[in-house]
Amino acid sequence: MRPSYLLATALVLVACGASAPEAAKVPAATGLAPGVCKSVATFTSSAAPQLQKDGCAGCHAGSDASATAALDLTNVGKDNAAACSQALRAVDLANRPQSAIIQAAVGAQAHKGGTVADAQAFTSALLGWIANE
Ligand code: HEC
Repeated sequence: MRPSYLLATALVLVACGASAPEAAKVPAATGLAPGVCKSVATFTSSAAPQLQKDGCAGCHAGSDASATAALDLTNVGKDNAAACSQALRAVDLANRPQSAIIQAAVGAQAHKGGTVADAQAFTSALLGWIANE
């Protein structure tokens, strides 16, 4: 349901003296539950190959418990819908280039996993997905 429709419904009900419907309290926007990826397609085409190329799963897919707790990449290449939603936790939708999943990998914040060889390629591949979230 589009937010404008919700708003219109709420306004009509308020104008008629009825209380706003429950649905009006749901944070508007996408109709998706929070934390669910909108663009599994671009995660799969752009982000996943780069995460695989740069070996992130070497630590983030179970072999290093603290790495996997911080960012779970177990599903990358296996169930990209699940992987996308898990990776989304390391995304800052208010400031996409500052997302932890980019900042950690390019050395802009402390990261035990070190830094990728080509920060520019990594950043643009990840933003190719994140821009669609
Ligand atoms: C050698 C193991 C290792 C590799 C390889 C590795 N990481 Fe990590 N990563 C860790 C560990 C350990 C942590 C938790 C402690 C920390 O933040 O440094 C972590 C934390 C993170 C976090 C969470 C940071 C936060 O602020 O919440 C992100 C995001 C992340 N890694 C992304 C990546 C990406 C993307 C790659 C691939 C380019 C990668 N890591 C490769 C070990 C690794």
